[in-house]
Amino acid sequence: MALPDSFIQELLSKNDIESVASSYVAFKRRGRNLVGLCPFHGEKTASFNLYPETNSFYCFGCGAGGDVITFIKRIENLEYIDAIKFLAERSGMRMPENRQENDQVSRLRMRILEANREAARLFHATLYRPEGKVALDYYHSRGYTDATIKHFGLGFAPPGWDYLRNALRAKGFKDDELVAATLAKRGKNGGTYDFFRNRAMIPIIDIRGNVVGFGGRVLDDSKPKYMNTESTLAFSKSHNLFALNFAKNTGRELNLCEGYMDVIAMHQAGFTNTVAALGTSFPEEQMQLVARYADRVNLIFDADGAGQKATKRAIENLRRTGLDVRVVTIPDGKDPDEFIKNNGAAAFKRLLERSSNAVEHSLLEIGKTHTLSTAEGKLAYSQEATKVLAKIESPIERDLYAGRLSQLLGVSKDAILQEVEQTRRKKERQEVRYQLPNLLRQERKELQQVNPEAAQNTRAASAEESLLGTLILHPDYIKSVRQALAPEQMVTSFNRELYRRLLDRERQGLLVELPFLASDYDQDGMAYIAKMVRDMGERVVTPEEVARFAAIIREEHTLRQIQNPAEASDEDIQKMLDTLRERK
Ligand code: UTP
Ligand code: MN
Repeated sequence: MALPDSFIQELLSKNDIESVASSYVAFKRRGRNLVGLCPFHGEKTASFNLYPETNSFYCFGCGAGGDVITFIKRIENLEYIDAIKFLAERSGMRMPENRQENDQVSRLRMRILEANREAARLFHATLYRPEGKVALDYYHSRGYTDATIKHFGLGFAPPGWDYLRNALRAKGFKDDELVAATLAKRGKNGGTYDFFRNRAMIPIIDIRGNVVGFGGRVLDDSKPKYMNTESTLAFSKSHNLFALNFAKNTGRELNLCEGYMDVIAMHQAGFTNTVAALGTSFPEEQMQLVARYADRVNLIFDADGAGQKATKRAIENLRRTGLDVRVVTIPDGKDPDEFIKNNGAAAFKRLLERSSNAVEHSLLEIGKTHTLSTAEGKLAYSQEATKVLAKIESPIERDLYAGRLSQLLGVSKDAILQEVEQTRRKKERQEVRYQLPNLLRQERKELQQVNPEAAQNTRAASAEESLLGTLILHPDYIKSVRQALAPEQMVTSFNRELYRRLLDRERQGLLVELPFLASDYDQDGMAYIAKMVRDMGERVVTPEEVARFAAIIREEHTLRQIQNPAEASDEDIQKMLDTLRERK
């Protein structure tokens, strides 16, 4: 299933790790490298390192590491081949033809998308048949025009148990495919029935134009109000945003709402840079998706308790994307859909313009619970506010808000900043103290999993890894090392296998670089290899050192052969004696 090297090469040249990773992580330059907050584990101090020279990354916090393909695999949660497709698409490359035709999973995924597309067509067409009139009236009563209905492909799933299933069966879809799409459910007796019944249907379309799922709303007040496509091979809630297919090309500012209907109303009112989150948890993956398409995001959530909770969660998960986050509060406990219906688009535009950013929002919230007219109130307010300011990464911003706080409280700005600094230092210490044992343990555990033999053979493994790291960084050395060291002489099997691969690639005249290994190793394996590269990338390695690594490995290999003297050949015994003599 190997893709042609030339293809991977072009792919890599068009997707350097710096530009790819920068869409997910806000980096700061540190020497030749870049550092930022790790997207793979929660942290507040930057330990995620990017090495543009070796096209690799490594996190000192969680041990994640690898090349650009591994990065995409992890962050987009994709299999190897889909990560390749993702990068190909990102850089406008066409995948080599004829691949994976027999891959059952990708075939089923295709069938799900086809079934969804047919279902969306049918639901939409149904609106304009007698049985769909009730839903068409519903849309109209909510103020959605026919143009909007068409634009979003809105539709109707009539009551009954088999409307869609029968229609799709007639088009050649198997029940299993419909179940895999969660368009149908399987009953206890083994039969199938429609999942969406008597609901206004809203198709969810991904950025490639695939119908990946649906939201279905009741036409009255019954419960549950919405049913949504469950997780399928083609759909995961946390990796999609409703209406991103329309919003993705509108510029670098997005409005993020809670509901389908809010988005539809917003688009109809001209705010076409609006998406919804498909659920109320705002997971980090989803916020990273937002970050890929925007530099600034306006959170437009209901003013009710649930909406405020959601705002907080979204702000937390957006913080590390480095986006400029603003919060739009809608008065009178309305949602955007209702607000626009009652007050019009111009009024909404004014709300947007008055939006406060995340820090201001937090400060406002704190202000609501403390009175500033008493000394105690001021003190309590300033303590809470200090915590908010301590979370701001940018010193300029900290300064700005300290200035405002100083005016508000009548306290000197310097005093506030000092307080903030103390809080920050205390937090940092706590974090390090809390994380350190974990980190050490994690790294060791990972080491054991990937190369369990290393723990028993530290001298050999360390020489092997120094050598392999060097070879990946400087493939020129491979020719001479090949002469000096046979793969069988590597002591630990993981390293032996890696060495074999490097030799093979070199012999075939193929490139020996981290990304070309990504098809053969899983995440932990790649992290392990990336660590070798990182360890050697920090310094210059001389030919003498390379020769010494090889010599150590040979020595250790020989010694191990002798550990069972009964099985050792005379030749081995002689080698061991030579080795021991050399050591002295
Ligand atoms: P809301 O209850 O705020 O719905 O849920 P809404 O978008 O304002 O809908 P209308 O205006 O009453 O028609 C917000 C979002 O939460 C999810 C949906 O994605 C919805 O758009 N939700 C809500 C569900 O998935 N299931 C539910 O039962 C309710
Ligand atoms: Mn609503």
